[in-house]
Amino acid sequence: MAAHPPVLQGRTALVTGAGQGVGRGIAARLSAAGARVLVNDLDADRARQTAEEIEHAEALPFDVTDRGAVAAALQDRRVDILVNNAGVPPGGGRPNRFAEMPEADWQLQLSLNLAAFMHLSQLVLPGQVEAGWGRIVQISSGASSRGLAIGVAAYGAAKAGGESLVRHLAVEYGPAGITANSLALGLMEGVARAGDPSVDRLINSVPIKRLGRPEEVGAAVTWLASDDGGLVNGQVIHLNGGTVFGR
Ligand SMILES: NC(=O)c1ccc[n+]([C@@H]2O[C@H](COP(=O)([O-])OP(=O)(O)OC[C@H]3O[C@@H](n4cnc5c(N)ncnc54)[C@H](O)[C@@H]3O)[C@@H](O)[C@H]2O)c1
Repeated sequence: MAAHPPVLQGRTALVTGAGQGVGRGIAARLSAAGARVLVNDLDADRARQTAEEIEHAEALPFDVTDRGAVAAALQDRRVDILVNNAGVPPGGGRPNRFAEMPEADWQLQLSLNLAAFMHLSQLVLPGQVEAGWGRIVQISSGASSRGLAIGVAAYGAAKAGGESLVRHLAVEYGPAGITANSLALGLMEGVARAGDPSVDRLINSVPIKRLGRPEEVGAAVTWLASDDGGLVNGQVIHLNGGTVFGR
């Protein structure tokens, strides 16, 4: 990996759902920038694997939807940088047209994408206020601001709730030296691969004609988390290659 300036030296970051995909890319870039990284995932083996692959990292497996588990894991730990990334339930969350979506499925989306973000924020903010410095980054999705006929209504609504929480946290805690922002992602490389006809159709609709890469999200998080990113607060930044939303 290319050398990155150690702009996060001395900071501790918690990245949720970092056992694979986007979260792993974020954890790697934060570590490359000098942060100590707490690698969370529901799947303990995945968390350990990511933590072993990157420098100054520690696996911290817990279920972000379980407030007691979050509180126990974060007891006596200061988290300077919270990256609320876990947002896809195991198995992908069973997309479904809304009227056919079982209550348990949409409740899980609210629990994972909104309530968990609330638990985590409530548990890290007091330490950040005490330190007079903090960063909160929500990993969101274009589905929060755009209607999509792919069965993700509950997911989009929960992500939009997270973006709203970010705007309020930005104003409540900006005076304490804490910023809060959302990165709304378009379709990322990973499960989706070029060569699959339905993915190729989507790629063709993206102005830069490719999918996003986890390390690009990591680079954006690193900038927001650095002192240089301190002017950005309460924003939703779309990382989607310039995809224009119709409605
Ligand atoms: N991949 C995309 O195309 C895409 C597009 C837009 C937004 N996003 C967002 O990016 C983020 C990461 O997505 P991804 O595609 O890398 O997901 P992924 O499914 O590849 O990985 C998600 C990780 O989160 C973990 N996880 C799930 N539930 C958890 C819980 N309750 N507690 C702790 N960990 C849990 C899983 O074990 C898994 O390792 C999500 O917030 C997602 O909504 C992704």
